[in-house]
Amino acid sequence: MKVEFSAFPKAFSGNVAVFVAAEKQLLATAKTLDQGGALGRAAAASRFTGAKGQSLVVLGQEKVGRLLLLGVGKARELDARAAESLGGLVVADANAAGQKAVTVVVDPVKGRLSPAEIAAHIALGARLRGYRFDKYKTKEKPEQKPTLELITIVVSTTAEARRAYARLEPAVDAVFFSRNLVSEPANVLYPAEFARRAKDLTKLGVKVDILGEAEMKKLGMGALLGVGQGSPRDSQLLVMRWMNGPKNQSPVALIGKGVCFDTGGISLKPAGGMEDMKWDMGGAGAVTGAMMLLAGRKARANVVGICALVENMPDGNAQRPGDVVKTMSGQTVEVINTDAEGRLILCDAMWYAQEKFKPQAMVELSTLTGAIIVSLGHERAGLFSNNTPLSNKLRAAGSEVGEKLWRMPLGSKYDKLIDSDIADMKNVSNGRDGGSITAAQFLQRFVQDGVAWAHLDIAGMAWSGKGNDTTPKGATAYGVRLLDKWIADNYER
Ligand code: BES
Ligand code: MN
Ligand code: ZN
Repeated sequence: MKVEFSAFPKAFSGNVAVFVAAEKQLLATAKTLDQGGALGRAAAASRFTGAKGQSLVVLGQEKVGRLLLLGVGKARELDARAAESLGGLVVADANAAGQKAVTVVVDPVKGRLSPAEIAAHIALGARLRGYRFDKYKTKEKPEQKPTLELITIVVSTTAEARRAYARLEPAVDAVFFSRNLVSEPANVLYPAEFARRAKDLTKLGVKVDILGEAEMKKLGMGALLGVGQGSPRDSQLLVMRWMNGPKNQSPVALIGKGVCFDTGGISLKPAGGMEDMKWDMGGAGAVTGAMMLLAGRKARANVVGICALVENMPDGNAQRPGDVVKTMSGQTVEVINTDAEGRLILCDAMWYAQEKFKPQAMVELSTLTGAIIVSLGHERAGLFSNNTPLSNKLRAAGSEVGEKLWRMPLGSKYDKLIDSDIADMKNVSNGRDGGSITAAQFLQRFVQDGVAWAHLDIAGMAWSGKGNDTTPKGATAYGVRLLDKWIADNYER
């Protein structure tokens, strides 16, 4: 699917999408296309009022083909995110109707954004919605495939719109790269293959290093290696560096959970739905995508991305419940449940990041607990942090790009629940109560003094069973744009 920007034509033809503001207020183009009050009658015969996010198809017009009314609501409601949503909506509508081309008209709205910015965000939303992972479908008939080939965005300031879109476009590549990683089945994407694909970022100027098991053993990463021990696939530590900020400024560290497949290990998961655990590397996918985006738009910031890549398998050589492992930090862990593996690989990755890069802030993303889905469903990821300003900045960045967060509590009473009788801690508490919080407490034990840290539990967000405005169902790449926005807003001024 291609996106083009074009100036206002003398007359419109083909499929056209136009703005209607709140209370059925037709904007300029809708007015010119209205024939004998047809649009008002169409609205009267439906619930369409022009409220933000509404849409209505009007067929049978003389001048144009499929006329799509887009509700933009009140002027101030048309922000970047709303524009992206409109772009997604247009793509979904055109594909559902089997159309090959559509024109979206950006009439001026006296809101927060210029028409060029609105046009650019419509383009971004359209592209993001147009993603498809179909490489393993060999028998699709043409009528089963998406039809939309061209979306033309009409705006008075085309040059400005093209420039604005050029700034946003790296996000499309990064989100698609991340969604591809997350969508791949685990027989194709195992730790070494993930790392190999991440090597592609070298082309953008990212320094990519990959540590194997021997190197991790030397570093003392007993917890990470214990998880990978039951798999014939080698565990990997992926280290990506984008240092384009001020020299001598300590970097921001992004850490990702990359369990390429999580069977649970000896604490085996039930069969039903286990196939979902191919996307237990969604945190690593987000971090890798974010690194791609930062490099793609040449962010003026110092950022390191570190992904712990393993496969959690049951095997004669797998770690057992009750095993005690020694982490890189020197702290020991009693592994009560081998299915609580995410925290075991993350604690070593986090320690490595802090020892090696002395980051000023560390944000870690993981599909860590089923319990966070019980708490927050699929609308928000859980945010745990030792730092309120950092939390607020992450929440603000998330809401601007439509990747929402909800802050969850931490505290010493929760922390006590993971004390072990024979080691420094155990990897799960006795009951399931507060499961996401005790997991976060575990991670916090590996945060060094003075480091602003946040843990985002994205278990409910990495994959979407339904899809939404700018995400078809499947891998979402949740976190890619959030991390990028957070860095853009806080480290590049
Ligand atoms: N990867 C899972 C968490 C998960 C579950 C993500 C469902 C997405 C959907 C994680 O490794 C896990 O197995 N967590 C256990 C922890 C438990 C053993 C304390 C869980 O949530 O059940
Ligand atoms: Mn698990
Ligand atoms: Zn897991």
